[in-house]
Amino acid sequence: YMVDKGNHRHFMEKEIYEQPEVISHALAHYVDLGDHTVETSICGAIDFASLRSLAISACGTAYLSGLIGKYWFERYARLPVEIDVASEFRYREIPLAKDQAALFISQSGETADTLASLRYCQEAGLKIGAVVNVKESTIARESDAVFPILAGPEIGVASTKAFTCQLTVLASLAIAAGKLRGTISSDEEKQLVRSLSEMPRLMSGVLNAIEPKIEALSRELSKYKDVLYLGRGTSYPLALEGALKLKEISYIHAEGYAAGELKHGPIALIDENMPVIVIAPFDRFFEKTVSNMQEVAARGGKIIFITDGKGAAASKLPTMETITLPNVAEIIAPMVYSLPIQLLAYHTAVFMGTDVDQPRNLAKSVTVE
Ligand code: AGP
Repeated sequence: YMVDKGNHRHFMEKEIYEQPEVISHALAHYVDLGDHTVETSICGAIDFASLRSLAISACGTAYLSGLIGKYWFERYARLPVEIDVASEFRYREIPLAKDQAALFISQSGETADTLASLRYCQEAGLKIGAVVNVKESTIARESDAVFPILAGPEIGVASTKAFTCQLTVLASLAIAAGKLRGTISSDEEKQLVRSLSEMPRLMSGVLNAIEPKIEALSRELSKYKDVLYLGRGTSYPLALEGALKLKEISYIHAEGYAAGELKHGPIALIDENMPVIVIAPFDRFFEKTVSNMQEVAARGGKIIFITDGKGAAASKLPTMETITLPNVAEIIAPMVYSLPIQLLAYHTAVFMGTDVDQPRNLAKSVTVE
């Protein structure tokens, strides 16, 4: 059916703003928003209780949501996760056994690399789960269990709402898996689901609050040729996603790094010509990330600090800009922190005058290997 931009300039902008609503839909499908529990039946044909490990593969942004999912499955369900980009997964010749399951994440459900990886795992006799947006897609059809992300049609080539809906589904599945495996208590379950249920309202608030500041910052950012993103824990895959988003639509060279890896190489690049975007909620990793930030500041690097109220108060370092978000529970930080990351890429691309919804050389769904 027809999808239009409403009163937005681009589909990407519209899709960024749709996130609180589509995430609500996804949540209503996977968790009980009244008593803050999750039904283990959402896992369908994937028997998380008896799994030895989970293999995840996907491409691009979908791969990065899988990388965040890995942190959750391992932490909440104590389930080891093997993850790789789909185009490499098969070539590692991973010893696969039937007490493993494989999870494929794809907005379109048609990505050739992901599909090839799915068929490879199917041949090895693994149960197949698919986290997809398009329910009628090939990947959905060839899977034993389909986990729809319910994001609605995503038109912009740069994935935004599909990413945060994928994260919402993966978080729900990790909690359900934890319940099945007896690795989280019912108190923890309730706390996690309550945090998830607060997400749409928090995200609406953030969208309304940060746009003017991000727009001004984007005007500055559009003057640079290289940008570095840093994060630790689940903020590390988010740093990778920030860099991917910026390069694909603004054509500015960007790299994401684990904050702790800075001193193992990329620190050599630090000078006043490469802004460093640090994603650091006030979590258990905060102090360590701030010490990495200190290393940047000491070398004249310009810092764009994306943090929360507690983080902003705790760090005394000078920054080019500080984007302050509400203090949020750890499990929803990746979704909430996606918003400034997406808006920064979006507005920078708008200032650069690129074709935001149809960036050069890219296709919405890549059907060649
Ligand atoms: C995301 O912004 C990209 N355009 C791209 O990385 C995309 O996520 C990737 O091609 C995977 O697509 P899929 O989710 O449809 O499989």
